[in-house]
Amino acid sequence: MKRVQDHYFKQAKQAGYAARSAFKLEEIDRRQRLLRPGARVLDLGCAPGSWLQVAAARVGAQGRVVGVDLQPVTLTMPPQVTVIQGDVFELSPEDLMPDGALFDVLLSDMAPRTSGIPSADAARSAELVRRALTLSDALLRPGGALLVKVFQGAQLPELRKACQARFATVRLEKPKASRSESVEVFLLGLDKRA
Ligand SMILES: C[S@@+](CC[C@H](N)C(=O)[O-])C[C@H]1O[C@@H](n2cnc3c(N)ncnc32)[C@H](O)[C@@H]1O
Repeated sequence: MKRVQDHYFKQAKQAGYAARSAFKLEEIDRRQRLLRPGARVLDLGCAPGSWLQVAAARVGAQGRVVGVDLQPVTLTMPPQVTVIQGDVFELSPEDLMPDGALFDVLLSDMAPRTSGIPSADAARSAELVRRALTLSDALLRPGGALLVKVFQGAQLPELRKACQARFATVRLEKPKASRSESVEVFLLGLDKRA
């Protein structure tokens, strides 16, 4: 397993990515084609910035990427990227919509500070997922897509149902770049219901 970790770590360095997480988004996007040229993307939990890098490259100069995180993003980003430093529980939908327009894609790689107690960590991850879903109600256009990280635990069936209530198609994704021993999986919602 260490070998796999080193492989993605080295690859991220070579590609100039802020984190190996970039490959999770690249892999899912290769299959699902979420990030199209010109698209508007909101990235919750964006620091240190590798998903911003991937999204900015995919949407191009005509697209728009808004990132939010508790932590600052210190990397220089292309002009189509705006970063807001703050807590998603304190920011309103309006705060996250700098130019007033809805998003085509909402990404969330948010993770809680882990305590080492799996049930507690899953519960905190679930709160982040619920917040991402609530924000998607206000910020994502009908037909839009959501990709959100969730720690596997007792809440997963409920979170999946909450996604199904909002999106016509819901899948669970576990990209190869996500360590197999990691509890993280990604809920993908396609075609947001009107
Ligand atoms: C795994 S990292 C994200 C990595 C990022 N996708 C990348 O590729 O660089 C998870 C992030 O979630 C952020 N986060 C956790 N809770 C948050 C909250 N309540 N509001 C905003 N960001 C939060 C953390 O600060 C952390 O930077």
